[in-house]
Amino acid sequence: MILTLFGPPGSGKGTQASYLVERLGIPQISTGELLRAEAASNTKLGRLAKSYMDRGDLVPDDVTVEVFRRRLSKPDVAEGALLDGFPRTADQAAELDQALHGLGRRMDRVVYIKVPTAELVSRISGRLTCPKCGRTYHPVLAPPKLDRLCDRDSTPLIERDDDKAETARHRIGVYLDQTLPVLEHYRKQGVVAEVSGEGDIEDVRRRVLEAIGRSDREQR
Ligand code: AP5
Ligand code: MG
Repeated sequence: MILTLFGPPGSGKGTQASYLVERLGIPQISTGELLRAEAASNTKLGRLAKSYMDRGDLVPDDVTVEVFRRRLSKPDVAEGALLDGFPRTADQAAELDQALHGLGRRMDRVVYIKVPTAELVSRISGRLTCPKCGRTYHPVLAPPKLDRLCDRDSTPLIERDDDKAETARHRIGVYLDQTLPVLEHYRKQGVVAEVSGEGDIEDVRRRVLEAIGRSDREQR
């Protein structure tokens, strides 16, 4: 199964993905996480990517597609993948169609998580991220069990460099200009399911599961 979580910065893509990968047994491919890992390794590509990410701009397509293709070629993707933050431009969507076609696959579902713009900045400001597994928390909205430590692997949580309110607002603008139009590409393929991203994380989770044809009742 190839799924994409689509939505603005702060809509809950990463939050929902961390649950879904365990539930569905397929890996998450987050280009944001992959690019942050490149930046942390201080590779040439990582330094270039970081200069765009810190401003809240999209990283150029050739860099992002290279990082994405490398990840898609790993053996753990044989059963499928949960994409988070890719594709984000028309060219990336075309690249993805081609890559999936080459694997004899197609996009099964694009889950569009809708959240009013006004709520996004408050969610992003204060967000805490695990630098090891990528899981996200919020001191008020989704606190970790132990202060500033990841529930999953006890790694000290950090704040992302691009989470300042001003940069977050810019990222939302970039999303509206460059990424939201990509949804039309998938509407034409008939694979888009819209869910509200408002309310409790568990409520959103139920809606996302319904959108991909799974429900909590199926859970063992
Ligand atoms: P990326 O890492 O993908 O960031 P993003 O799309 O801006 O999205 P976020 O990770 O900020 O939000 P999210 O939807 O995952 O929300 P989360 O679950 O954390 O990309 C970062 C950068 O990398 C880009 O700006 C770009 O430079 C570059 N990049 C990445 N992919 C690229 C591509 N394909 N092409 C070019 N450049 C690319 O939740 C947010 C907060 O809200 C958390 O604190 C969470 O605890 C809380 N929360 C979640 N759900 C709820 C809820 N229901 N109620 C209350 N709080 C909630
Ligand atoms: Mg994320």
